[in-house]
Amino acid sequence: MSYRDLPKVELHLHLEGGAPPSFIAGLAQEKNMDISGIFTPDGGYAYRDFLHFLEVYETATSVLTTPEDYRRLTLAVLEQSAANGVVYTESFISPDFCGGRDVAAWRDYLAAIRDAADEAERKMGITMRGIVTCIRHFGPERARETAICAAETAGDWLTGFGMAGDEAQGKPADFAWAFDCAREAGLGITVHAGEWGGPESVKDAIDALNPARIGHGVQAWHDPALVEEIARKGIVLEVCPGSNVFLGVYKHRHDHPIEKLRESGVAVTVSTDDPPFFRTDMTSEYQMLNRVFGWDEDDFRALAQEAAAAAFCDEPTRARIRKLLEPAE
Ligand code: ADE
Ligand code: ZN
Repeated sequence: MSYRDLPKVELHLHLEGGAPPSFIAGLAQEKNMDISGIFTPDGGYAYRDFLHFLEVYETATSVLTTPEDYRRLTLAVLEQSAANGVVYTESFISPDFCGGRDVAAWRDYLAAIRDAADEAERKMGITMRGIVTCIRHFGPERARETAICAAETAGDWLTGFGMAGDEAQGKPADFAWAFDCAREAGLGITVHAGEWGGPESVKDAIDALNPARIGHGVQAWHDPALVEEIARKGIVLEVCPGSNVFLGVYKHRHDHPIEKLRESGVAVTVSTDDPPFFRTDMTSEYQMLNRVFGWDEDDFRALAQEAAAAAFCDEPTRARIRKLLEPAE
């Protein structure tokens, strides 16, 4: 079976970060907005480093101004995921970008995203769930408003709460109110940490926010006691190897600690983060893991089951997805 066809589960995908550059460029043209500076001559996204990436991400996102734009975006992103064998995806969506954290406006954006997710499920057989995400460099006050949007719409589709953005800004404890609010609403908790910050950044996030999952988390590798704690607590890492190498967290693919973390008993999963920004997709991630670490079909089937076990969906959905991951008789 080809790696493209293997059924996959992706837990860490930023919805705007999955936007094909041609989609964003087309929308900008429709709206007479000039954002040509964010594209490379060959039609990719252009940025110098991680902080510039965050800026370019926000510029690309600035053309998405209506629920209908998000409906079209969601379909475009899910089409890419489904074409790479993804059967279940959890995507980060942000009230910051969808209605400016106004609960009524957020409901309209969420309805449009869900409408597209339902259409994709019917037509492409891919299931999506949403994780509301606050943005760390926007600060704790905005995170609080974001958490209220999440709590107001928590349910069988909106299943998680997380935090992305610049890990160097603020402390996880500053965001405890927002995470407690989301947790009380029944949402699963994930937080970006240990992408750029060291192991202490991961430790701070665990101590302050008690996440079930960590976005990236790879820098934990430098602290054996922390690796042991993550394994013992069963905290799942949403590892994005292609993103880490493209952004320069690791110079070479073989420097990436995913294999060592897995061997240490940490539950690792694999995702793309922002695939067109990093010129990757789930098939390429699998091909890289096969080439660099020798992972084979059995490893990938176990990996997908691990991800399904860590998904924030309800149990009937999990059982249905796990069945789809089994080899055909
Ligand atoms: N937002 C989108 N992609 C991100 C990443 N890799 N790290 C932090 N915030 C992000
Ligand atoms: Zn991310």
